[in-house]
Amino acid sequence: MTVLATALDTADEAYAQRRTEMLAKLAEVEEAHGQALAGGGEKYLTRHRGRGKLPARERIELLLDPDTPFLELSPLAAWGSDYAVGAALVTGIGVVEGVECLITANDPTVRGGASNPWTLKKALRANEIAYANRLPVISLVESGGADLPSQKEIFIPGGALFKDLTRLSAAGIPTVAVVFGNSTAGGAYVPGMSDHVIMVKERAKVFLGGPPLVKMATGEESDDESLGGAEMHARVSGLADHLALDEPDALRQARRVVARLNRRKAHPDPAPAPPPKYDAEELLGIVPGDLKAPFDPGEVIARIVDGSDFDAFKPLYGTSLTCGWATLHGYPVGILANARGVLFSEESQKAAQFIQLANQRDIPLLFLHNTTGYMVGKEYEQGGIIKHGAMMINAVSNSKVPHLSVLMGASYGAGHYGMCGRAYDPRFLFSWPTAKSAVMGPQQLAGVLSIVARASAAAKGQPYDDEADAGLRAMVEQQIEAESLPLFLSGRLYDDGVIDPRDTRTVLGLCLSAVHAAPVEGARGGFGVFRM
Ligand code: COA
Repeated sequence: MTVLATALDTADEAYAQRRTEMLAKLAEVEEAHGQALAGGGEKYLTRHRGRGKLPARERIELLLDPDTPFLELSPLAAWGSDYAVGAALVTGIGVVEGVECLITANDPTVRGGASNPWTLKKALRANEIAYANRLPVISLVESGGADLPSQKEIFIPGGALFKDLTRLSAAGIPTVAVVFGNSTAGGAYVPGMSDHVIMVKERAKVFLGGPPLVKMATGEESDDESLGGAEMHARVSGLADHLALDEPDALRQARRVVARLNRRKAHPDPAPAPPPKYDAEELLGIVPGDLKAPFDPGEVIARIVDGSDFDAFKPLYGTSLTCGWATLHGYPVGILANARGVLFSEESQKAAQFIQLANQRDIPLLFLHNTTGYMVGKEYEQGGIIKHGAMMINAVSNSKVPHLSVLMGASYGAGHYGMCGRAYDPRFLFSWPTAKSAVMGPQQLAGVLSIVARASAAAKGQPYDDEADAGLRAMVEQQIEAESLPLFLSGRLYDDGVIDPRDTRTVLGLCLSAVHAAPVEGARGGFGVFRM
């Protein structure tokens, strides 16, 4: 055993300060989560219950195995937009009849459960997760279809939702639709494209066009039940495989369908593993409020991996990137963690080698971000920082083992890419409330803009207004700061959620379990040309 030591002094004033700042940021995140939980608010919730219907999250609870966790994804989607936080859709991973499934549930209390541009992004992300990890998809449907005022943003790209369902099916990944209410027009293709369909009697309404549209189109008089009721679809059209008496019955039948899927994970679950030697509570006091102050990611690793046991790789070389091997809830992981912010040539080459080793051994990778990016300056450019950074980015891009990313602190510039940022398709990416991500830090960005503006004025022979420059810098700094924060980034679906640092081990454990539903196989070759 190579148990990590700790230098964290919990009696220290600086520790208390860091903890206080983290708790303040967590409180903001919790408030935003509260908004997502509230859905469409009291009025619409009361009306929904008054119709004898269950809210989205209660439907999910009845579907899941009792006392099993639900890893909710993208709960803050649409934060900071004109749409309700959560985007009228709940998505996540939960266990049904012992099978990990990707579950989506429309929230009918938010604008009739209609899909806005953020709902679409969130749904497509959920499908992506199901596909990559080979998780069966269960859709709990009740939606007014496209949010009509924003149809231009969703109608054309939204077609991918239905394509995804049939591609999942073609890949042998089961899809189940449970229809609780409205599922019209495009929405009709959710049951239409699913392997298994359950509809709730007298509640499900599945038609391409409702009675008014049919009247307009053909002059035919019709009613909801004959056009798209559950009984009709179960007895006449055959679109419904199962007719449920009510919502609990529908969820019970969905569980029976999953029980008969004959689903086996690609890798069996590992034996229970020992917890870390140090208290997860202390994860609150590691990241400083001012991200310019460095912190040792070893303190984080020691509080998330099994037994705090970690074998460092090249500990004496490229020391501002910590790399090494551990297990987390029994699953082997290779960890890359930024130690002092900047990535130099040595760190980049070390990372490229480490990523190749993980691929040779079929070991998933965990990226713990706190980077200001690759080093700039004459010495480093001449030393080949571009080609060395490119090696790391090449290795990350072509690596085939599952990647998990956690933004603990800074994640700036190409460092975000090299550390497997969102565009590099990590299977899951979560942020801590202390995370910040942007092309560069706000002060640096404002400073660069100011230097460029000054040079441009000089080139035109115009005087430069220093007072206006100071005002502009302050404004830009504030804007970039606001756009780098986790609530903003999570609202735009640039992560899968903002998590409490104390939950990191649990969240990563759930993710590792999900990724092992699919075969974990590294790339044996197939990297691009490494520039030497
Ligand atoms: N786009 C935008 N807003 C919508 C919407 C949609 N597709 N569907 C519903 N809403 C809004 C309603 O305007 C209403 O807003 P308000 O409370 O501010 O007045 C709110 O969501 C709740 O709708 P309401 O009709 O009161 O709820 P309901 O539960 O009684 O009925 C539906 C829900 C979905 C059956 C009904 O709203 C409906 O038929 N919507 C249109 C469905 C449709 O044709 N969609 C196009 C398919 S592509």
